[in-house]
Amino acid sequence: MLTVAAGAGAEMGEEEYQSQARPLSAVERAELQRRLEQEQAEAAQRRSRQETLERQRQLALQAWLAARPAEERLLRERCTPCHGLGVVEPARHGRLGWTWTIARMRWWHGAQVDTGEIVRLAAHLARRAREGRPAVEAPPDPETLPASESFRQHQEGRVEPRPPP
Ligand code: HEC
Repeated sequence: MLTVAAGAGAEMGEEEYQSQARPLSAVERAELQRRLEQEQAEAAQRRSRQETLERQRQLALQAWLAARPAEERLLRERCTPCHGLGVVEPARHGRLGWTWTIARMRWWHGAQVDTGEIVRLAAHLARRAREGRPAVEAPPDPETLPASESFRQHQEGRVEPRPPP
């Protein structure tokens, strides 16, 4: 658009905008436009890299979760509808204590957990308590997951995003 070169009053907004400075030449405008577009393209590229990274992290986290012992996954599924696992972790019962605790979750509070699962979970919780280990391992920092090398490469823009496997 070259309206800026048009006579006074032709474009009110344009005139106010330009009132302090001399009008930009067509070449300057083109250069400005080019820089603007370049910045937008770079921002879009950064965004898309970030999104790819986030997707990869999610996938790595899902893979990590899927590889955990079945009881850990069961605890996440059965116990978290009502309270965090932070409620479960500090309790240190034996197998019997856990059986009663989880049975209470079912009878009093309506937890969706069948008898076979109660037995498995009680054994798991008692064993982990005995070993002094958390009942459910916290996910690692995504940066330390196996795909971290490709994360870094993406972050540094060294490789193009790969489609998820
Ligand atoms: C339907 C809701 C619900 C579900 C599902 C549930 N809980 Fe609870 N839980 C509660 C409520 C409410 C309390 C607090 C009152 C109480 O202690 O009974 C509680 C408290 C607890 C406590 C602390 C009290 C104690 O006795 O040490 C533990 C431990 C616990 N739950 C373990 C579990 C485990 C393990 C699971 C999964 C197998 C589970 N809960 C699933 C509702 C639920």
